[in-house]
Amino acid sequence: MDYFNYKDNRLFAEDVDINTLAGKYGTPLYVYSKRTLVEHFRKIKDAFEGLDTLICYSIKANSNLAVLSAMREEGAGFDIVSGGELYRSLNAGADPAKIVYAGVGKTKEEIRYALKTGILMFNVESAEELKTINNVAKSMKKKADVALRINPDVDAHTHDYITTGKKENKFGIDIVLARTLFNSARKYMHINLIGVDMHIGSQITTVGPYLEAIKKVAAFIQELRADGAAIEYFNIGGGMGIIYNEEKPTTADSFAGAVKPLIAGLRLKIILEPGRFIVGNAGILVTKVIYNKKGRNKNFLIVDAGMNDLIRPSLYGAYHKIIPVNVVKAKVELYDIVGPICESSDFLGKDRHLPRLDEGDLLAVRSAGAYGFAMSSNYNSRPRAAEVMVSGSKYSLVRERETWSDLILKEKKTK
Ligand code: LLP
Repeated sequence: MDYFNYKDNRLFAEDVDINTLAGKYGTPLYVYSKRTLVEHFRKIKDAFEGLDTLICYSIKANSNLAVLSAMREEGAGFDIVSGGELYRSLNAGADPAKIVYAGVGKTKEEIRYALKTGILMFNVESAEELKTINNVAKSMKKKADVALRINPDVDAHTHDYITTGKKENKFGIDIVLARTLFNSARKYMHINLIGVDMHIGSQITTVGPYLEAIKKVAAFIQELRADGAAIEYFNIGGGMGIIYNEEKPTTADSFAGAVKPLIAGLRLKIILEPGRFIVGNAGILVTKVIYNKKGRNKNFLIVDAGMNDLIRPSLYGAYHKIIPVNVVKAKVELYDIVGPICESSDFLGKDRHLPRLDEGDLLAVRSAGAYGFAMSSNYNSRPRAAEVMVSGSKYSLVRERETWSDLILKEKKTK
């Protein structure tokens, strides 16, 4: 599943001892395994073999340039949601012709930047946005290639905050409205409607919701075609779930096996936008115990990584396995593993059994490659963590640790 394993009771990322990395770069530290990253990309790619497929890695999951360039080397395209993500992907050497741009709030400035760059297409999320794209393209004397993002109104059975394909969500366009919009889109002289898109949510562990949504959207595509539309692309989104703890998510092979029969007959180019599936288990967050604090009812391991470094437990109640970097034979105790931030929601894990640990001992928070560093912040004026990419026995610092002076770099005192 991944390449974070113990060798002689010490945790390694591929062939590199985590103790070495923590010693050299300090903690909290994100460590990525390139091999895990690449193998997960290939799992999806191979599973869809035989269909004309473009896999657009969803940058929001982890946008470090080293991750992006590893994906680019594998032939991945990119799924972006902002001008900043476009800037990053171009910086990593992305081919603009493999970039798809989603998001409900694209600004005129961002649309202009994307049109200038020559991306593959915009995934349009509203009638209002379509109009704006047409106007911006007109002002630039260009034609914009677009896909309509359909909200198929299916329940992805995941956390409410990361469900995106239900009618009460802000994402995508209702199918009935999409039909009307399609007709008005024909009147737009600066729009090329070339695709239909869906993305129903994230950390989805079964294939059922995809099948339900794909059936609805495929029927819609057939209607559009009957109406004379030249649809070339069907983007089925991302969202494939991973193992954090006890989950048994659909594998890439069985996912593709179930989906293919529904899409193969459409003779369309298929786009996928996986993020977490590729990078989720390719990263860990290494943190150091500051105090082993005895509370009245609880033992706390107070560590140097907080919710500013990894917000998933606080925000979604997400579970991440937490393991010692060095296996020691000590009495097992029950701990809450918490950060130094002044919020009760600042925890990485609750009620975990771990051998007794003390100041200076290292822990690894697993499955932290997706939506880990990418969602980190400077809350409590904490410089953001460093990031390291391991490949075999080699490693490189791919983002320096921020410093205290970085924290105030953009600020000014009033006179
Ligand atoms: N495509 C679109 C349009 C998306 O909105 C997303 C994720 C993806 C693709 C990639 O989804 P993935 O394959 O990674 O599930 N911060 C949350 C997850 C938010 C997902 C947002 N959209 C978390 O930590 O669980």
